[in-house]
Amino acid sequence: MDWNQAYLDRNTPWDKGVASPVIVELLPEIPMDAKIVVPGCGTGNDINAILHRNPALVIGFDIAPEAISHLNARFASNPIVKPLLGDFLQCGPDYKASVDVVVEHTCFCAIPVAMRPAYAKTCASILRPGGKLIGAFYWMPRDTDDMSVGPPFQTSEAELLEHFSRYFTLDTRVATVGFPERLGREFRVVMTRRPDTNDEASLRSV
Ligand SMILES: C[S@@+](CC[C@H](N)C(=O)[O-])C[C@H]1O[C@@H](n2cnc3c(N)ncnc32)[C@H](O)[C@@H]1O
Repeated sequence: MDWNQAYLDRNTPWDKGVASPVIVELLPEIPMDAKIVVPGCGTGNDINAILHRNPALVIGFDIAPEAISHLNARFASNPIVKPLLGDFLQCGPDYKASVDVVVEHTCFCAIPVAMRPAYAKTCASILRPGGKLIGAFYWMPRDTDDMSVGPPFQTSEAELLEHFSRYFTLDTRVATVGFPERLGREFRVVMTRRPDTNDEASLRSV
């Protein structure tokens, strides 16, 4: 998937122009003054909603230069938002245990399935003990790879447990809010970083 080309072509059916209703519902999980990372943040619709929680800093990662230039323009006057061009999966060493909240929305389902252990490990690496990974995890596309339905790779509750439970306690339920075509097809997830797995040895064992 050439994400940058999709943004250049304005072929971005996942971008609804507003925050995910699931993320909006989860906003109270975000403490005020938090340092927040949004992986695969696209054009920043969720970041816009997150700003209502008066964060200290919101770092938006995206691998597509076109998405980052959109973010730079959109939040030019807001020093709280830091758009970063790059691979979220590489940011672990830079943010080690320093982040309060990671907000996931259609990034986990967009990376190749083989990279999911690295995604979980990166979230675990950057979150402080007790920090939270909250989000909407897309789980059940219809029997199609039609991108207007949603991003490419589905998941399951069992898979979320497999990848994340070594680092997090999980509260996973089927979201009762959502964009109409995704309703009933997303998990609303709150994960809390366990303090007992915050050592290099366990992180290396992935
Ligand atoms: C389906 S889009 C969702 C964008 C945004 N979350 C939204 O809902 O509008 C997936 C996004 O993840 C970005 N992406 C894919 N792999 C990435 C990676 N390894 N690191 C950072 N961003 C990535 C893509 O460029 C794209 O913007």
